[in-house]
Amino acid sequence: MMAGEKEKSFQFVVVGGGIAGVTCVEQLSSQLPSAAVALITAGPHIKAVTNYKQISRTLEEFGVEEQPSSVLEEKYPNLTVIHSAVKSLHTQSHTLETTDGRVFGYEKLCICSGGRPKLLTQDKPYVLGIRDTDSAQEFQKRLSKAKRIVVIGNGGIALELVYEVEGVEVIWAVKDKAIGNTFFDAGAAQFLIPSLKADKPDVAATCKRPRYTTEEPLQTFTADRNSRGRNSSTTESGSALGPDWHLGIVLRGAEKVSRRVSVEYQCEVKKILTSEELLLSPEQTLKPDSGSWPVYIQLTNGKTFGCDFVVSATGVVPNTEPFLHGNTFALAEDGGLRVDDHMMTSEPDVYAAGDVCTACWEHSRLWQQMRLWTQARQMGWYAGRCMAADVLSEPIELDFCFELFSHITKFFNYKVVLLGKFNAQGLGPDHELLLRCTKGQEYVKVVLQGGRMVGAVLIGETDLEETFENLILNQMDLTPYGEELLNPNIDIEDYFD
Ligand SMILES: Cc1cc2nc3c(=O)[nH]c(=O)nc-3n(C[C@H](O)[C@H](O)[C@H](O)COP(=O)(O)OP(=O)(O)OC[C@H]3O[C@@H](n4cnc5c(N)ncnc54)[C@H](O)[C@@H]3O)c2cc1C
Ligand SMILES: *[C@@H]1O[C@H](CO)[C@@H](O)[C@H](O)[C@H]1NC(C)=O
Repeated sequence: MMAGEKEKSFQFVVVGGGIAGVTCVEQLSSQLPSAAVALITAGPHIKAVTNYKQISRTLEEFGVEEQPSSVLEEKYPNLTVIHSAVKSLHTQSHTLETTDGRVFGYEKLCICSGGRPKLLTQDKPYVLGIRDTDSAQEFQKRLSKAKRIVVIGNGGIALELVYEVEGVEVIWAVKDKAIGNTFFDAGAAQFLIPSLKADKPDVAATCKRPRYTTEEPLQTFTADRNSRGRNSSTTESGSALGPDWHLGIVLRGAEKVSRRVSVEYQCEVKKILTSEELLLSPEQTLKPDSGSWPVYIQLTNGKTFGCDFVVSATGVVPNTEPFLHGNTFALAEDGGLRVDDHMMTSEPDVYAAGDVCTACWEHSRLWQQMRLWTQARQMGWYAGRCMAADVLSEPIELDFCFELFSHITKFFNYKVVLLGKFNAQGLGPDHELLLRCTKGQEYVKVVLQGGRMVGAVLIGETDLEETFENLILNQMDLTPYGEELLNPNIDIEDYFD
């Protein structure tokens, strides 16, 4: 088949209407207002950062709102938003083809196509992955009729999910020795576990946190549904949900119970069987508990559970496929497009940012990539600046935000701040931990190496984030303070200010 006629060329093309893509487009359009910029995105809506707040040197907070793309076009007159999915990329000819058959040219391209959920089995109807508003809606619909669900995974999404659902029995299978392994150590997990047993507070305690949708989220969802015409391609995928994706969606099962979570540790999924398959199964080991369920899940610890459906929250795989064919992108082990310290992929004039890319520059000692909202924004913004610097032939250095990993979120209704090598990632045996914990109130962990602070986990209203961020950034020798560092009777700020 012959490639279609090139419809239009743009100086900059950005693919993906998630946080990374939208931030990149905004940066390009405001820095170079007369440049022709195009945003090509599969979904009908775009994600916009709202109420951005810099809390300290590296900590930031913001909300995310799904908006119609016209909002962007009104703000930036030289920006064109194209609603279609990219089908293929030809880096030689600097063109992209969309699923509706159009061909667009670019001078510089930034791929921000995000990720899609890693599913356990692609073809099982009883396995659900949560990624975008559509899948969250599907989850809610199925949950309302469910008595028992099995949640697989141990990252942020699984953590939020098991905490937020009500009226359903939850079996939570984690591959690690403790819950929340991506974010916490066993101590922090122990601190959080009682929250799963307690009843959820009626009104969520106030806590500054990024919101996913600020107002009338349910209407946003409905609009999302309606605007997807019947002819919209099935390959189209929306943006990843952000923090608070569950706000405004009632996550309630069919049962009257408020919460019943049991955790199965250190196990993975061995097999998923429908009730028919179970009956036909020759295996003697399959002795499920009583009752009849639509689906059965066999874990590697030998237990089998029946349930209404399985939620797979085992992370995301970078959305790279449409871009790979015919090109020679260098891919990282996790499947992401490798990018250097200018967010450039291995293909000329092609940049990437957000969940789709893997940061392959030499990282600062205190930073690591995690596929999170803040990093999607930071990378999109920095990629835009790098692309602009490139056409202006200006030098640009790796941004300060990549000096120190920092993340602020909320788990089990506690404020959570993570700094640097918060879990002693890659530190080797010569590190030390200091801990302070008040049950039900706060959990403070400090990671020290050579007497200097290299990471921290702060759960609860500790008010320590700024001081600790400073101590990590200035790498002051803390040996003289010893354990006094965490003495609750000492106002640590007085020490160091
Ligand atoms: C349920 C859930 C909860 C989460 N909770 C948190 C949290 O609490 N805190 C946090 O920091 N992070 C959280 N995350 C992660 C966070 O949402 C992502 O890291 C972030 O949204 C990534 O942004 P992105 O712009 O790279 O990609 P995405 O937001 O995934 O956007 C990708 C965009 O690309 C478009 N696209 C994809 N393929 C194509 C194509 N072929 N052609 C054209 N367009 C295409 C999509 O339509 C979409 O607009 C959560 C994720 C999920 C799924
Ligand atoms: C849009 O681009 C044109 C030409 O490239 C330029 O003249 C015009 O000023 C730009 N618009 C804005 C609002 O900057």
